[in-house]
Amino acid sequence: LKTSSEEKKNDKINTKIDLQNSKVVTTCDIEDVGTKSVYCRCWKSSTFPKCDGSHNKHNEETGDNVGPLIIQKK
Ligand code: FES
Repeated sequence: LKTSSEEKKNDKINTKIDLQNSKVVTTCDIEDVGTKSVYCRCWKSSTFPKCDGSHNKHNEETGDNVGPLIIQKK
């Protein structure tokens, strides 16, 4: 049987980014976006907040359908 804390832990989306903080907040300066930047929304990237493609493995393993946020200039 799982304890309630184990169940709670398994419900977490974020399993690796800044776990010591009670809330992860990321600020990106608009000047750093350039013509195109790709940001992680799956919380699996090793280059968080930038996407490193880890969402593909996550989707294959879980059947999820998450992907990055792409910000680009027209
Ligand atoms: Fe998280 Fe791409 S690695 S969205």
